[in-house]
Amino acid sequence: MKKIPQLQQKMAVALLGGGEARIASQHKKGKLTARERLQLLLDEGSFEELDMLVHNRDNATQEQFPGDGVVTGYGTVHGRLVYVFSQDFTVYGGSLSEPHARKICKVMDLALQNGAPIIGLNDSGGARIQEGVVSLGGYADIFYRNTRASGVIPQLSAIMGPCAGGAVYSPAITDFILMVENTSYMFVTGPNVVKTVTHENVTADELGGATTHATKSGVTHFACANEVECIQNIKQLLSYIPQNCEETAPVYPYESRDERRPALNTLVPENPNQPYDMKEVIGHIVDEESFFEVHRDFAENIIVGFARIAGRSIGIVANQPANLAGVLDIHASVKGARFTRFCDAFNVPLLVLVDVPGFLPGTDQEWNGIISNGAKLLYALCEATVPKITVTTRKAYGGAYCVMNSKHIGADLNFAFPNAEIAVMGPKGAVEIIYKKEIDAAPDPEARMNELVAEYTEQFANPYLAAEKGYIDEVILPEQTRSKLIRGYKMLENKVVNMPRKKHGNIPL
Ligand code: COA
Repeated sequence: MKKIPQLQQKMAVALLGGGEARIASQHKKGKLTARERLQLLLDEGSFEELDMLVHNRDNATQEQFPGDGVVTGYGTVHGRLVYVFSQDFTVYGGSLSEPHARKICKVMDLALQNGAPIIGLNDSGGARIQEGVVSLGGYADIFYRNTRASGVIPQLSAIMGPCAGGAVYSPAITDFILMVENTSYMFVTGPNVVKTVTHENVTADELGGATTHATKSGVTHFACANEVECIQNIKQLLSYIPQNCEETAPVYPYESRDERRPALNTLVPENPNQPYDMKEVIGHIVDEESFFEVHRDFAENIIVGFARIAGRSIGIVANQPANLAGVLDIHASVKGARFTRFCDAFNVPLLVLVDVPGFLPGTDQEWNGIISNGAKLLYALCEATVPKITVTTRKAYGGAYCVMNSKHIGADLNFAFPNAEIAVMGPKGAVEIIYKKEIDAAPDPEARMNELVAEYTEQFANPYLAAEKGYIDEVILPEQTRSKLIRGYKMLENKVVNMPRKKHGNIPL
């Protein structure tokens, strides 16, 4: 056919994006091209490209590049369908023109209609400056679709270069953000504007690099050492989650064996004030090597992440006694709430591990809204209708007891270790309040105080008062935790909850 060479020639031009020189410059910066990234992400030979020949008709102000700065289409990851867009920095710095936005919207619409995840690989200088408001409209079209798709299909954003100004708000609405160290940054206004407005001297990396957003702002869920690690993380994340909100996550093969974990009997220290690493507890509960931590470097006093238990995905929210004694503060509450809502939206059962001394006191926390932020975690756990199991490994004090998936807010199964302390507050704080007069009047106040603390500890710092009321379904030997959870989730497999009719709830934002 005579026309075949013409098509081949057009495709060859499109495959080169902004040309060889710009590809070389991209590599020199330590970055892969848009197409190389897709090759790493998708199963070999599975990529089907759409709109390869779309370009901007505005010949007056813009040189033409087929594809117009973004590669879009669909393919598979470990055999499962995903939709993708990958911005091509070699074409106008990956900036977003009207056709570029239309291409992204097309794959987003397909993803939503066909119920499969959408993955965006972002590397863009922002709005195409030559286009003005038309490109801003393109952003808004994308934000609108991100919001419509939220809670229906998983949306993942990898930031692999610049992402500034309005461009940040599409990733911000998606479920998970991954950034690459040293080569990516995200900010609403860059260092130059910051210097003019606030007189602060800050580099792009300090202001909005991967480490900054992984540790200070919590904007990114993953800071990856390089692009390859970033793409591996995307693939691993996908393995724990379903294609859409109507489905459940893939089940991995699992053979039942001895599920006892005797190491758990001694892992939690007898002394309630001695720290230990809750990640070790998690390691003994879930399938080997299956824990995949999310938001690892942000608000480390709470742990969130995916794992598998007998081959099935679960989402874990756990206090971390090794950091700030596992106290709940603003960041921890928001982190836990957001993860809980993802799991609930996508039918991933929840496991809540509790060792919490309460909420963090202080003006900083109160003035920055620990009340409404703490309420987010409470609201998210109350609202979640997926199977919800709680294991209290040690402390569950005060309001934090209620918040951390207590029976009262809809947990299906509540287990406690024998050394759990479920009470209004810790023994010392309680005694100081209720026996203040008696202690002050005692000949040796300190000795009296110690006596009363010992009495209170004996009487209240245990799981049995809660178990007598049925707030704890079972006090278990720690070594039984894994087998109790395997049976518990199996028992809850067909859980159905009918919610009152409403448009949507009003989570305290
Ligand atoms: N619109 C149109 N073209 C853009 C662009 C944009 N927003 N951003 C970058 N480009 C083009 C550049 O003109 C350059 O074109 P060339 O290859 O023909 O020379 C190419 O993309 C690469 O840009 P360059 O500045 O050389 O890359 P860099 O890595 O040094 O810097 C940025 C990257 C993003 C920091 C820088 O390009 C920039 O500041 N862009 C503007 C950001 C912005 O203000 N966007 C609009 C508001 S959202």
